Amino acid sequence: MGKKSDQPGFATRAIHAGQEPEPATGAVTVPIYATSTYVQEELGKNKGYEYARVSNPTRTRLEQNLAALEGGIAARVFASGMAAINAICTRFKSGDHIVCGHDLYGGVPRLFNQVLADFGLEFSYVNTSDAKNVERAIRDNTRMVYVETPTNPLMTLTDIGAVSQVCRRKKVELVVDNTFMSPYFQQPITLGADMVVHSTTKFLNGHSDGLGGVVVCTKPEQAEKLAFVQKAAGAILSPFECWLVLRGVKTLAVRMEQHDRNGRAVAEFLAGHEKVKKVFYPGLPDHPQHELAKRQMSGFGSMITFETGSLANARKMLKKVRVCSLGESLGGVETLISHPATMTHAALGEKGRRAIGISDGLVRISVGIEDVQDIIADLDQALAAI
Ligand SMILES: Cc1ncc(COP(=O)(O)O)c(C=O)c1O
Repeated sequence: MGKKSDQPGFATRAIHAGQEPEPATGAVTVPIYATSTYVQEELGKNKGYEYARVSNPTRTRLEQNLAALEGGIAARVFASGMAAINAICTRFKSGDHIVCGHDLYGGVPRLFNQVLADFGLEFSYVNTSDAKNVERAIRDNTRMVYVETPTNPLMTLTDIGAVSQVCRRKKVELVVDNTFMSPYFQQPITLGADMVVHSTTKFLNGHSDGLGGVVVCTKPEQAEKLAFVQKAAGAILSPFECWLVLRGVKTLAVRMEQHDRNGRAVAEFLAGHEKVKKVFYPGLPDHPQHELAKRQMSGFGSMITFETGSLANARKMLKKVRVCSLGESLGGVETLISHPATMTHAALGEKGRRAIGISDGLVRISVGIEDVQDIIADLDQALAAI
């Protein structure tokens, strides 16, 4: 994804937006403002910063950067992706209704069903890959449609443009979790989303060394409300972790290009392997939404899920991997491999997983940017254990 208009291209924005040299010394990297408070000249007179829960210059810079990358008017960062999603929901009241995708990252329905439902919020889970399902689920009290595309772990796409048209007609806000694609490959706001959320823990940070979350806003009232939630509830991102994301994001464009190249090669390898029953990757021509993927995304990324046939098979192969690291999370430079049924989606329970097609034999891989022949050789030797 390069330069499309008069504004600087994506890689230039990633490196420079909010990342201007520090005025006092000319330091080319944004400093980590490790301070809890700011001295005030006299009562009511300060330099725009009073207390670090409310604001911090390192955080301000990261928020400017991420807003520029997603094409929003402002961004608000939080202590984790889940804290960001929770912050979005604190804007609602008891009796409000939310329509969401039915195969989201497992932590999201856990928050919705086991925490927020107790505060009177109502949730309907539908297959958002068909915009008609979304339309049917919207009620008079619906305030938000929440989708992840592609979904974690089944790599199902939602047509953001089609769902956004439904949302506009029904006057409901559309929020898109863009964690899997990053703004480099998918621009939900351009496609009609009202807000974008990320676990910055993943591709935006890119180095598996910090947790974080962001909400990118398209309207001043969203940004104001979420700034108030940062101040009032306090789940803000620390200056050090803001700095890690600022550093990580500088290489987002080159990392995503390499993730994508490696992802395509690994998906093709898995699709041709006799021990692999099925591969879920939007870049493969047999993915049911391959055409939508080509239209909606400018790359296919590096998240791949595949079926090994049984829990025993998954266990055998996962025990053998060496280059791939068995662990939760995704989007780091290193290849991470995981087992959704017992890891990321354990909270759904067996029945919940079965209802949406997450079997015990599924394995999810976040292909890193190592030499791809080493990743493929590692998977090959691990699959030989099945
Ligand atoms: C798609 C997606 N959204 C949100 C989250 C939650 O983010 P965090 O772990 O930073 O709280 C995750 C975590 O894996 C995720 O995969």
